[in-house]
Amino acid sequence: MIKHLLSINQLSDRDILRILDTAESFREVGTRVIKKVPALRGRTVVNLFFENSTRTRISFELAAKRLSADVINFSTSGSSVSKGESLKDTALTLQAMGADAIVIRHASSGAPHTLSRWVSASVLNAGDGTHEHPTQALLDLFTIREHIPSFEGLRIAIVGDVRHSRVARSLTFAMRIMGGEVTLVGPPTLIPPEAAGWGAEVSHDLDAVLPKLDVCYMLRVQRERQRQQYFPSVREYSRLFGLTRSRVRGLPEHALIMHPGPMNRGVEIASDVADLPRAVISDQVTNGIAVRMSLLYLVLGGGRASSSEEDSERSEPEVA
Ligand code: NCD
Repeated sequence: MIKHLLSINQLSDRDILRILDTAESFREVGTRVIKKVPALRGRTVVNLFFENSTRTRISFELAAKRLSADVINFSTSGSSVSKGESLKDTALTLQAMGADAIVIRHASSGAPHTLSRWVSASVLNAGDGTHEHPTQALLDLFTIREHIPSFEGLRIAIVGDVRHSRVARSLTFAMRIMGGEVTLVGPPTLIPPEAAGWGAEVSHDLDAVLPKLDVCYMLRVQRERQRQQYFPSVREYSRLFGLTRSRVRGLPEHALIMHPGPMNRGVEIASDVADLPRAVISDQVTNGIAVRMSLLYLVLGGGRASSSEEDSERSEPEVA
């Protein structure tokens, strides 16, 4: 398989299916009374979070614990980073303590990539700046596949602050690898110029896009990353790009509504829309654990075979 997961673009369609299939076999573990398997017993996973996070950090922690790994949670407040320690020294310290996998979230795009050159541990990108968030894209694919069996020709719109969204980038790349059709929707100021090269369509008219969708994926307005005013007011933004009850009527009956969280209820998604049965937002959170179990298992050598001809010989994960 792969040693690090830094970007979705490292993966082939077969790699992605393998990750999803392995997650499938781990999902059942979460429904047991004793939610633990011994697959990574004796291995050490470090969660290195330099940016705020609720679900991604807890999800990785639970995933590692359910695989019986030892887990260290490290966040900048309360650590020597607040004394000025550099990423490199932090990394070398973790390395010296014998970390087998390092899960990193960082405000700088490319930080996981740099880290992977300093340490011998596997590095998993849990979100780097406005670059990528590959595990989110994989859990999104897993959640979509529960409802829609094939990605080929599947039509998804990713709506909102595409410019600042690592989720939008990773999900667009993942859907394109799997043969899906992506439309990026938002005000022109929030669609980055390079989006044209991602293999996606671009639209500024949400109402026109809704009727042809299988999945409507709403993004949070990332105010903490916006250095200028990209739209006149929050009200104006919601009026044009918010998923309201009346807009939901424009979606086909079967279409799913998704959001990576945290949601700004009433801004990009109306509160009652977020609670509709077709809004699979809490399934995304639940599935994140199985997908991250799959990834930790695969990068730490659970399925040593490469993504090529050895695939058929791979062993199933030890979930008994
Ligand atoms: C996303 C993130 O941090 O990039 N959240 C998440 O990981 N679930 C999206 C966001 O913050 O809007």
